[in-house]
Amino acid sequence: MALLAPSVLAADFLHLERDILWANEHADILHLDVMDGIFVPNISFGVPVVQAISTLSTIPLDVHLMIVRPDRYIPVFAKAGASMISFHLEAALDSGISADSTLDQIHSLGLKAGIAIDPDVPVADLFPYIGKADYFLIMSVFAGFGGQKFIPATLDRIATMREELKRKGNCSTLIEIDGGVNRENASSIARGGADILVAGSAVFGSPYRDEVVEAVHENTLSG
Ligand code: DX5
Ligand code: ZN
Repeated sequence: MALLAPSVLAADFLHLERDILWANEHADILHLDVMDGIFVPNISFGVPVVQAISTLSTIPLDVHLMIVRPDRYIPVFAKAGASMISFHLEAALDSGISADSTLDQIHSLGLKAGIAIDPDVPVADLFPYIGKADYFLIMSVFAGFGGQKFIPATLDRIATMREELKRKGNCSTLIEIDGGVNRENASSIARGGADILVAGSAVFGSPYRDEVVEAVHENTLSG
């Protein structure tokens, strides 16, 4: 079974409480997109919103940092209630900070640590971090906006990562997919080897959210 992580970016901000309570009942993880308008051309929400959500959410908070200098903000998001934090490999390298030390920083705060990559970054760039990261967030759209179309080549990227994890005898690192997941493709993404499926519009912006829950939770080959 794969895990469903609804993305709050697509929630109704005037009824956030209602949407968080729904996620508590039907989902496994709550995905929170933090954007700074620099690493990505969009601004979302920050620490106070994550902190408020943490008082209501009963499922782990997965903070996806799409910001430059993620190392500067990891401690405040940890304090705000994150259980998992991912940062973009591109953002770390562009800022001149090492992904290794950023993973260590997240771990030192007692959280699960993930590395994210956009669709134009080779999946092999993540291989050096196998055994260090708890999860890899392979973007299935370019980071920055909800409501984009799933990039089909992501399925090959999942297979490549799954194969490498197998080759290294690693069965604990999770693969998270984010962007354009919907009721039509969720099942094949989960069967393709994804462990966590993020879905924003297809959950909070759709009357068919129950079908997404079912598709993600159905039994998959990867177990
Ligand atoms: C995109 C975000 C995604 C987004 C997913 O930059 O990282 O998490 O909220 O939204 P949908 O499911 O609508 O593509
Ligand atoms: Zn995200």
